[in-house]
Amino acid sequence: MSESFLEVSRILSGGLEGEKVKVRGWLHNKRSSGGIHFLILRDGTGIIQCTMKRDKVDRRQFELAKDVTLESSIELTGTVRRDERAPGGYEIAVEELKVVHMAEEGFPIAKKYHGPEFLLDHRHLWIRSRKMQNILRVRAKFLEAAREWFKLNGYTEFHSPILITAACEGGATLFPVKYFDREAYLTQSWQLYAEAAIASLGKIYTVAPSFRAEKSRTRRHLTEYWHLEVEIPWCGLNEVMKVEEELLSYVCRRLASEASRELRDLGRDVKDLLRVEPPFERLTYDEAVEILHEDGFDFEWGKDLGRVEERHLALKFDKPFFITHYPRSAKAFYHKPDPNRPEVTLSVDLMAPEGYGEITGGGERIDDLDELLKSIKENGLNPEDYKWYIDLRRYGSVPHAGFGLGVERTISWICRLDHIRDAIAFPRLINRVYP
Ligand code: 4AD
Ligand code: MG
Repeated sequence: MSESFLEVSRILSGGLEGEKVKVRGWLHNKRSSGGIHFLILRDGTGIIQCTMKRDKVDRRQFELAKDVTLESSIELTGTVRRDERAPGGYEIAVEELKVVHMAEEGFPIAKKYHGPEFLLDHRHLWIRSRKMQNILRVRAKFLEAAREWFKLNGYTEFHSPILITAACEGGATLFPVKYFDREAYLTQSWQLYAEAAIASLGKIYTVAPSFRAEKSRTRRHLTEYWHLEVEIPWCGLNEVMKVEEELLSYVCRRLASEASRELRDLGRDVKDLLRVEPPFERLTYDEAVEILHEDGFDFEWGKDLGRVEERHLALKFDKPFFITHYPRSAKAFYHKPDPNRPEVTLSVDLMAPEGYGEITGGGERIDDLDELLKSIKENGLNPEDYKWYIDLRRYGSVPHAGFGLGVERTISWICRLDHIRDAIAFPRLINRVYP
């Protein structure tokens, strides 16, 4: 069915001037002036202007082009022309138009201002917009490049269950699920199972959904998000920071070269991404708190940094930076206390600059059996629920570390979005599970 159709991206990449081509896609936009219809075609690889002149086609074709509705699916035959005035530098002089499906009149997304709730209700149609196309393509490229980095560096992809029985990140954000006659939960993180799998596979990663029953409405929380996680045996805090730096700088470099048009459209200067080179600055939690105090914040040592504090710190940076050694009181039970100062942990969060804040969380895990049992109890958890996880400290425990990166948080920063909902096609938020 497809052999004779060309992709728009192929035409826009040049070299086909004067060639007769066939393309197909959706009528993204249309205008007419004088004896010319401008049919803007979108095919999933790109958008191209196609012009139909009254004196070049028969009358029925010209009438059809006048009547064809926005978002109709169409096929066009014509000749490629170089034209500086056309949006991608090329256009197609149309000789034949075929309508595959005439869309109903009144495509809901019109060329006028629509409020965010309207666009969220019509997300199934709004993802056709240029903005969403750009973001979704950057997102896909981001994951493609990340997977490539993992391959180049000897990591194996590993999958854990989504339905689980014990919290990784505390009970407050667990989503309960009726599991026949008992209760289960949706996973918050792949990590605990990853700690089991490093003794089987060595260095591993995943890209998978995580769930958080976040009761707050914020610009950076989804209830379902994609989580890129890494776990590494024989690894400490410094090594895990190196992995984060190298992975992120590799991905940013790849995006700067392979998604430059999309990024430019979104208002992101690729120079900002080329600056994301190791080493990233490192701040301890104590230093971060000191800065907050100097800047007049009333912040109590021991609390987790929140959105407001992170934003304040992250406005001081123009590339990502680490915050390390969070207090035990601010972190989950599995974080390893610093042997030199047990009230803080060997933990690290990576902050995106320009006010964005946390994009990864991770660090060293407790590898000693008694220390883990103590921490589970101190955190008010039931050791029975973690029996298999505790077992890992009985049979060949090793120092190990890892981290989890929020894909939408990272895409929000890279694409300069002002709300995380636009970093994913169909966002799940406290008040939204449709469409
Ligand atoms: O900091 P978090 O809670 O850490 C973990 O889940 C670890 N178990 C990860 C690990 O070490 N393997 O979550 C990790 C990241 C955060 O830094 C943030 O980017 C993202 O996941 N995240 C969210 N993204 C969108 N919406 C939410 N509600 C999120 N909660 C966390
Ligand atoms: Mg965190």
